Amino acid sequence: MSSAPTSPITSERRRLVTARGLTKEYPLSRTVKIRALDGLDLDIDYGCMVAIMGPSGSGKSTLLNLLGCLDTPDDGELLIDGIDVRANPRPDLADIRLRRIGFVFQRFNLLEHLTALENVALPLGYSWPRIPPEERLRRAEQALGLVGLSHRLHHRPDQLSGGEQQRVGIARATINNPKLILADEPTGELDSVTSRQVVDLLHGLVVEQGCTVAVVTHDGSIAERADWVARMVDGRVDTMTRR
Ligand SMILES: Nc1ncnc2c1ncn2[C@@H]1O[C@H](COP(=O)(O)OP(=O)(O)O)[C@@H](O)[C@H]1O
Ligand SMILES: [Mg+2]
Repeated sequence: MSSAPTSPITSERRRLVTARGLTKEYPLSRTVKIRALDGLDLDIDYGCMVAIMGPSGSGKSTLLNLLGCLDTPDDGELLIDGIDVRANPRPDLADIRLRRIGFVFQRFNLLEHLTALENVALPLGYSWPRIPPEERLRRAEQALGLVGLSHRLHHRPDQLSGGEQQRVGIARATINNPKLILADEPTGELDSVTSRQVVDLLHGLVVEQGCTVAVVTHDGSIAERADWVARMVDGRVDTMTRR
């Protein structure tokens, strides 16, 4: 029996994200819609860092929301880690999000009344089978150690600098060992030195833990560290450049 050619399959296996013809519209009024994504195609391989750049309003955050299964496309195909996102009902999308995807936000989005340790442990509280509280805290401590914050475990966000808060955000994003980390302008609130540390951490997730990182940024120094730069224009990826 002859075997099937392997190269297309192999390349599919290397692919974490396949997006084809993605469309997303938002209603502005009952009759007017705004087309945020307009037939977008994108491939992202496992274990790389992609910088997503482009003018304000070009659809970067909308794309990240779809990649993060926070929202669903109106049209097109979206495969993430081999899963057809459009074929899954919303509760399953929440599960995909929890197990496979971590988020890093521009404004950190930490809960003010919780310590760094508690913030990082929080996503583990939704895991099934259940993880005992002491194990959650142990893992959170380890994750904070990896971002250099072993000395800040019991600080609340208002007792931390911006850079430290973002490192807590990164530790939280990695706590479930996600395959995909999505970061929307993660250094937008940080000075250049601190931004560099955050970029180094994100890059380290790719090199040391084999994560895939998609980062929306206006910052050329982030784009320099990325393996690929996707430039968005008018709701599509206009160019995808290998660095
Ligand atoms: N929730 C929403 N409701 C209506 N329009 C939206 C919404 N979110 C984004 N848009 C519009 O969609 C387009 C793309 O937005 P966005 O993805 O936020 O772009 P970017 O992140 O590149 O600045 C913009 O024209 C924006 O105004
Ligand atoms: Mg945006």
